[in-house]
Amino acid sequence: MSEPYSHIAVLADQVVELLQPQLGQVFVDCTAGLGGHACLIARHIGPTGMIVLNDMDAGNLARAEESARRAMSPDDPESANIVVIQGNFAQLPQELVKRGIVADMVLADLGFASTQVDDPARGLSFRHSGPLDMRMDQSSPIDAAELVNTLPVKEIGDLIKQFGEERHARRIASKIVEARELAPIETTDQLADLVRSAVPYSKGQRSPIHPATRTFQALRIAVNDELGSLESLLRSVKFGAQKVQSGDSGWLNDGTRIAIIAFHSLEDRPVKQSFVRMNTDGLVELITRKPVGADEREIAGNPRSRSAKMRVCRVLGSKAE
Ligand SMILES: C[S@@+](CC[C@H](N)C(=O)[O-])C[C@H]1O[C@@H](n2cnc3c(N)ncnc32)[C@H](O)[C@@H]1O
Repeated sequence: MSEPYSHIAVLADQVVELLQPQLGQVFVDCTAGLGGHACLIARHIGPTGMIVLNDMDAGNLARAEESARRAMSPDDPESANIVVIQGNFAQLPQELVKRGIVADMVLADLGFASTQVDDPARGLSFRHSGPLDMRMDQSSPIDAAELVNTLPVKEIGDLIKQFGEERHARRIASKIVEARELAPIETTDQLADLVRSAVPYSKGQRSPIHPATRTFQALRIAVNDELGSLESLLRSVKFGAQKVQSGDSGWLNDGTRIAIIAFHSLEDRPVKQSFVRMNTDGLVELITRKPVGADEREIAGNPRSRSAKMRVCRVLGSKAE
C-alpha cells in the first residue's frame, strides 16, 4: 500500500459544519481530488454511509479512493461503501440516477488539485516549464497548445478577455498569432514570455500578479470547459430540486445539502445567481447568505484558500412553506 497523501482540504471545518454529515448518509463528492473532504465526511457518516467519488482525473480518483476507504473503514478498507465514477461532474447526476443513488450531501470544490498544478507535465503553471497541456482529463482530445496554435486571433482574444478578464487580451492574442507564424507555441514558458512581452507596464509600476496569470486561467477554463460544466451541474441541481418538490425520485432528496466552493468570480457568480433564483422559487433554503471564506490561520497554512468562496443551500421538500 502506498503512503497516505498529505493534502489540505480547503474550508475543511466549514464544509463539515454546513453539510452536517450524519451516520449512514450518502455523500456525493463531485470533485474528489485527493480525497481530503471525502475523508473528513467519511468519519461522520461511518461504515453504514456511502461515498460517491467523482473526478475527471483518473490519477486523483485512485488516490481519493484509497484514502477514503481507509478513513471510512480503517480495519477493512475494501468493505467501505464507496462508488467511484470517473468523468465530468456535468454527467454525474445522470450516472447517479442510473445507479439509483440519492445524495444527502453534494460537494463541488472547483478547479485544480495540487497534484495537477505542481506537475510540470500538466502544463498548468507558468512557474514550471512544461508542455502546454492543461487538460484535467488526460484522455480529452484538445489541449491548450491546440487552442493557441489553431484558433483565429479574434477567438483567442475573446477567450482571454472572457475567461481571464484580461484587459490586454487583444494585444496578447496578436502576439500569440505573430509568434506562431514562426514556430508553434509548445511550452508554458514560451507562452508566459509572450504574454509578458505583450503586457505593457509603465516604468516603476508592478503588478501584484504575474502578467500571465489571467491568460493561463482563461486557457485552463476553455480547455476543460469549466464554466459549461458548472452551469450544467447547477441546472441538474435545479432539476433535481424540482423533482423533489413534485414528489418524484431523482438524485436529490428533501433536505439534501449542496456546497460549492469557487475560486474566482466567474465561478462564484453563477453559483450565487442559481442559488438565489432557486431560493426565490422556493426550491431551496440558503444555508449561507454570504459566501464563506478562509480565516487568516487557514490562509497562512494554505495560501490558495485565500480566494475560496463557499455557498451552501438545502433542498426543500414539497411540505416547505
Ligand atoms: C480542488 S480539487 C478537489 C480537492 C478535494 N476536495 C480534496 O479535498 O482533496 C479539484 C478536483 O476536481 C477535479 N475537477 C475539476 N473540475 C471537474 C469537473 N468538471 N468534473 C470532474 N472533476 C473535476 C479536478 O480534476 C481536481 O482533482
